[in-house]
Amino acid sequence: MCAQLLSTHPYKGTRDFYPADMKLRNWFFGKIRAALELASFEEYNGPMLESLEMYIAKSGEEIANEQTYNFSDKAGRRLAVRPEMTPTVARLVAAKINELNFPLKWFSIPNLYRYEAPQRGRLREHWQVNVDIFGCDTYEADLEVISTAITLLRAFDADSSMFKVHINNRRFFNDVIASIAGTDAEGSRRVSKVIDRKNKVPREVYEKDLVALGLDGEKIAKIDALYQMGVEEAAALCPESRGAQELLDLFEALRELSLDEYCVFDFGIIRGLDYYTGTVFEVLDEAPENNRAMFGGGRYDNLVGLFVKNTNVSGVGFGFGDVTLENFLVTHNLIPDIYSEGVKVLVTKFDDVPYTEYTKLVTKLREANIQSSIYIGSKKFGKQIDYAVKGNYSHMVIMGSSEFNEGKLKIKDLRSREETTVDAEKLTDYFA
Ligand code: HAM
Repeated sequence: MCAQLLSTHPYKGTRDFYPADMKLRNWFFGKIRAALELASFEEYNGPMLESLEMYIAKSGEEIANEQTYNFSDKAGRRLAVRPEMTPTVARLVAAKINELNFPLKWFSIPNLYRYEAPQRGRLREHWQVNVDIFGCDTYEADLEVISTAITLLRAFDADSSMFKVHINNRRFFNDVIASIAGTDAEGSRRVSKVIDRKNKVPREVYEKDLVALGLDGEKIAKIDALYQMGVEEAAALCPESRGAQELLDLFEALRELSLDEYCVFDFGIIRGLDYYTGTVFEVLDEAPENNRAMFGGGRYDNLVGLFVKNTNVSGVGFGFGDVTLENFLVTHNLIPDIYSEGVKVLVTKFDDVPYTEYTKLVTKLREANIQSSIYIGSKKFGKQIDYAVKGNYSHMVIMGSSEFNEGKLKIKDLRSREETTVDAEKLTDYFA
């Protein structure tokens, strides 16, 4: 009887990264890392496993209760596989609060797990670029973070017709809802949860939920009107609000820097995570098929305070996932031919030349910093050509017994199909 074969599929909502997939991922994260380092952000990392209570305390119900993979270890500690990085970075900052050089500009590219229904733009495992600034509580850090988000997309030659940064402010949101609906802090929080789901449920459900929180038709209409307003008009509804002022300062600076073409005020941006307190934003792809947010972020004033008493180190930052980025780059045709760029040489082999002579050639190439390999299989020459073409090699170095005896080599350029004979001594000069 045959034993049941094991599945070759990865776990639902996770991906295998074959070398071609890794090449793409390394290409885009390489560009992102370079742009962040240029702007003096420093890279950090942390463990995959964290205590579950960190997420229960601050991430909010959806992430902590519904989306977190959690379990007890053998000693009974309640652990979670990290669904996001922000509580981890707040813990790192809190643990060395007296030693660190504030304001901090930090980034990380962790893989995260969330138990979600896999769909376009959302999987169970994704890699997320996290960019955060700690220790600056004025709009300048919000500006730095938002302009960094724009810079990262511009590094791929994206323009303002392809994406927009949608910006709101939690303080402003709470103040304007309180003034329209007369809610207290808890009431405004409940209204925010309903508004956050506005586009995910039918209109009747949205209205019914607001009515259940004590809002009548007139109040709902006032909230509807906010969606159509520009930032000045909206801010004028609550001129005393610190959040309104923060929005005005931020948009003024964005205008000054000509970044306003990338940004819109959007009252619908609430963000599902509970820890945000000020500016909140999401970057949305303008292509309708990519309808899930690409970046999400904002300011959180009191996360570090979860770990250290009487501290007040505020943070602001964003997370930016690889799944939505890849959809964005493919949809807008922003991925160049990364597979066949640069020089990559295959040294082919024949049985009547000692193998070590080929090893010497490849060693020379590598010493000259030329990406190269010997053909290590046992197929005939014709198949070695197929291997080189399929493997995106740019050149083949060919040394049969007659070339070997004469101290010569043939070099075949696989892109132009030209073949050149050179002295074996001059091999690396050819590629100079
Ligand atoms: P978030 O909105 O939950 O925020 O996620 C940020 C981004 O990560 C999303 O816009 C999306 O690109 C990506 N993302 C999230 N979940 C998934 C998923 N299931 N599959 C694929 N991509 C996903 C946060 O996580 C905050 N901690 C970000 C932050 C950093 N705020 C301040 N600093």
